[in-house]
Amino acid sequence: MIIHNLLADKAYQKIQIYCFSGTGNSRNVAIWITQVAKENNIESQIINIAQIDRISIEPPEPDSLVVFISPIHGFNYPPIMLHFILRFPKGKNKVVLMNTRAGMLIGKFITPGITGIAFYLSALILIIKGFSIKAFMPVDMPSNWISLHPGLNHRTVKYLHEKNKIKVEAFARKILKGKSHFKALLEVYDILLVPIAFGYYFIGRFFLAKTFYASKDCTNCDICIKACPVKAIIKVDNRPFWTLNCESCMKCMGNCPEKAIETGHGFIIVYSLIFNMILLAVFYKYFDLYFFPIDNALVKMLLESVLFIALNTLWYRIIHYLMRFKKMERIIVFTSFTKYKYWGRRYKALKPD
Ligand SMILES: Cc1cc2nc3c(=O)[nH]c(=O)nc-3n(C[C@H](O)[C@H](O)[C@H](O)COP(=O)(O)O)c2cc1C
Repeated sequence: MIIHNLLADKAYQKIQIYCFSGTGNSRNVAIWITQVAKENNIESQIINIAQIDRISIEPPEPDSLVVFISPIHGFNYPPIMLHFILRFPKGKNKVVLMNTRAGMLIGKFITPGITGIAFYLSALILIIKGFSIKAFMPVDMPSNWISLHPGLNHRTVKYLHEKNKIKVEAFARKILKGKSHFKALLEVYDILLVPIAFGYYFIGRFFLAKTFYASKDCTNCDICIKACPVKAIIKVDNRPFWTLNCESCMKCMGNCPEKAIETGHGFIIVYSLIFNMILLAVFYKYFDLYFFPIDNALVKMLLESVLFIALNTLWYRIIHYLMRFKKMERIIVFTSFTKYKYWGRRYKALKPD
């Protein structure tokens, strides 16, 4: 096998790409890699981790190059990919870690997204399992997080798509020759994001994320329910309802033919702000006096933080529960930014060509 590979100037016989993608960016990158593999007569396979048994995972073939690719969610791989890597069987393969993250465009300059701890954490897990890491590669594809920022226009999406295709092809040629690529590790500031990444994993993803709501334009076609990679959307009150399993991958919003899925910005942000203001006022007027007459500033700060997180969680769970009801439609849609034309451009990656 090794002699055959050397004669053919091939470092690998096969490349196996484990991919998760919400709106298609990571899927595109995976496809671009397989195209380069094909040019080099290397067999390739894309494994969509949302469609396989993620509990008893088949080990990769012993001599293949293993690639993991996924978007970044909250400065880390999303839970679906993270848990997949945690459950991945032990092996000795060479591994490439890739992500797609939030690229934007200022003039002709592509502003990079932020990988956070995704590479460090996954590399650590995989090294412990016996794998050796050959390369890291972030790809700044068009950002799909339109709950948080206005959707990108078509010109920007096209520009980022074309530039990244060239970049990914060059990278694929390099790794398929057996070379390493560790430039991404120069982004050392990512380490500073450890607390935020953990905060997002344990709290933020439940709070920020599950604010989707089907407006009255919903025709109950169930495309969102069928498309959801983690089966997080269920039918409640005869309309889609997003459970806490949702990964906020944006696939549902990007695919809805009626653009009926909105993010409840106002509902969550404004009302939570009002709730917190009331909470603060009550806290400093009464609680501080009667319940926590403690002198130690650190203990007091810790108690305050625990109380705020607990009450906010409770408040959010109430809001999330109320979102089950059709009657909430007007109040959510009325205060949502995604219903506006400028903000609400939906995102779906261009065809990989
Ligand atoms: C919930 C959520 C969180 C995100 N967090 C980050 C982030 O921390 N850093 C970043 O660079 N991009 C972030 N993004 C942007 C996506 O990683 C990026 O658009 C990615 O290319 C989407 O890939 P996909 O189309 O394969 O799902 C986030 C997107 C979403 C929806």
